[in-house]
Amino acid sequence: MSNEQSTTSNGKILLVGFGPGAEVHMSVRALQAIEEADVVIGYSTYIKLVKNLLEGKEIIRKGMTEEIDRCIEAYEQAVLGKTVALISSGDIGVYGMAGPTYEVLLKSGWKPDSGIEVEVIPGSTALSACASLVGAPLTHDFCSISLSDLLTPWPTIARRIEAAGRSDFVVALYNPKSGRRTQQIVETQRILLQYRKADTPVAIVKSAYRDLQDIQMVRLDEMKDCKIGMLTTVLVGNSSTYIEEGLMITPRGYANKYQNITGTTIEGEKRGRSLSMGLTGWKSCVREYLRSSNEYSLRDTARHFGCPTGEIISAISEANGNDSAGEYSAAIVQPEAISVIEAAKQWGLLRVVVRNNAGAVSKFMINAEDFTLRREWLNIENEHFYLHVKWPSVQQVWFIRRGDILCGVYFIDEQNETVFYLSLLRQDGAFNAPALKAFEQAWQTLTTMNELEKASNE
Ligand SMILES: C[S@@+](CC[C@H](N)C(=O)[O-])C[C@H]1O[C@@H](n2cnc3c(N)ncnc32)[C@H](O)[C@@H]1O
Repeated sequence: MSNEQSTTSNGKILLVGFGPGAEVHMSVRALQAIEEADVVIGYSTYIKLVKNLLEGKEIIRKGMTEEIDRCIEAYEQAVLGKTVALISSGDIGVYGMAGPTYEVLLKSGWKPDSGIEVEVIPGSTALSACASLVGAPLTHDFCSISLSDLLTPWPTIARRIEAAGRSDFVVALYNPKSGRRTQQIVETQRILLQYRKADTPVAIVKSAYRDLQDIQMVRLDEMKDCKIGMLTTVLVGNSSTYIEEGLMITPRGYANKYQNITGTTIEGEKRGRSLSMGLTGWKSCVREYLRSSNEYSLRDTARHFGCPTGEIISAISEANGNDSAGEYSAAIVQPEAISVIEAAKQWGLLRVVVRNNAGAVSKFMINAEDFTLRREWLNIENEHFYLHVKWPSVQQVWFIRRGDILCGVYFIDEQNETVFYLSLLRQDGAFNAPALKAFEQAWQTLTTMNELEKASNE
């Protein structure tokens, strides 16, 4: 295709998503668009699916791997002044031809006002169609991931599956398996099982609303051994999805607010208001949790609420007399208020704790003299070890106190995760008295500065 082709004709490209396959699920506009077209271009299976609508039209069939050819053909026909319908199953903008068509057009010098009109006509996606056949699995947050690694690197796909698993999304898996790509679904099951229970409901829907429609309802640990092909979409439930009477249901959340879903509001909740665990209320729930027992560590609490430790510390820092955080208190360090590295020189022997995500924990004893800040590195070095911390990754520093158990400082990154923390040593169940006094003095200086700052901002 030449870049010099004129785009001044009045041709038109209609990008039509015709839904899952049955004509009754096509939108009125999709039917009109095919009716309007002089030329219909599509993958041969799609042409077959809408054959009843094609009488008298020029038909250009292309194979599955000829996607870019379909776009070029559509453009070339439009340049000749024809109205072209490029058809695709589901929604043409969802893993469909809308993207490649615009890419090809823009590369060819086409502009929205250059004479060839382009219209994208939405359709019901495979995931909506498949969901409708098995109950209501998508009534809460979900995402779709294509397992095709023909154009997307596998590590990218794997990271998306992990993120979806970790974030408790219902997941719709497109392009789950083909004759050549048989292991992607096996890997997907392995990754999701790290975050989901083995009996998580899974719906495997083949050829929704087409002649060979087939539905299997299975558990996540059975998924990889099921009959899955190119025309299948797999829906994996989240942690609250259940099967009842053969229906796969993901609750919308009403049970969080109303007794038995339809009854009166649960104590502490209000109709039409955010949940008590909503954006403004959830930190108060953290403090209530910490008040309810003296047993919970910061890590236990972070795990319980499914959030990073930095957010728990921030919730603690907002405690007050009526809404305490049990034994915990916290104060943020404004870098201009005190230098922790300087202050720590009065705190004697300190314990430093570093954890990595793979489960290793390092604990070691240092003196504040072991700290040096050199360009962007905070180095903690003595004759036994080196710890180098990329200092710009530390975004917040917090003083933390937990009764007589913990006096420490947490260094938190941008994601609110702990980079490392240090704490005063306890011997025979008590902190060293001068060290404790110096720590409390530093805390006092800090809270005074924080209060002054707060007052000046008000
Ligand atoms: C290239 S994508 C097309 C997606 C489509 N544009 C959409 O909006 O859903 C092809 C994949 O869609 C899914 N798919 C398309 N039609 C389907 C149907 N009728 N039943 C089940 N899955 C379908 C399968 O996962 C298939 O591998």
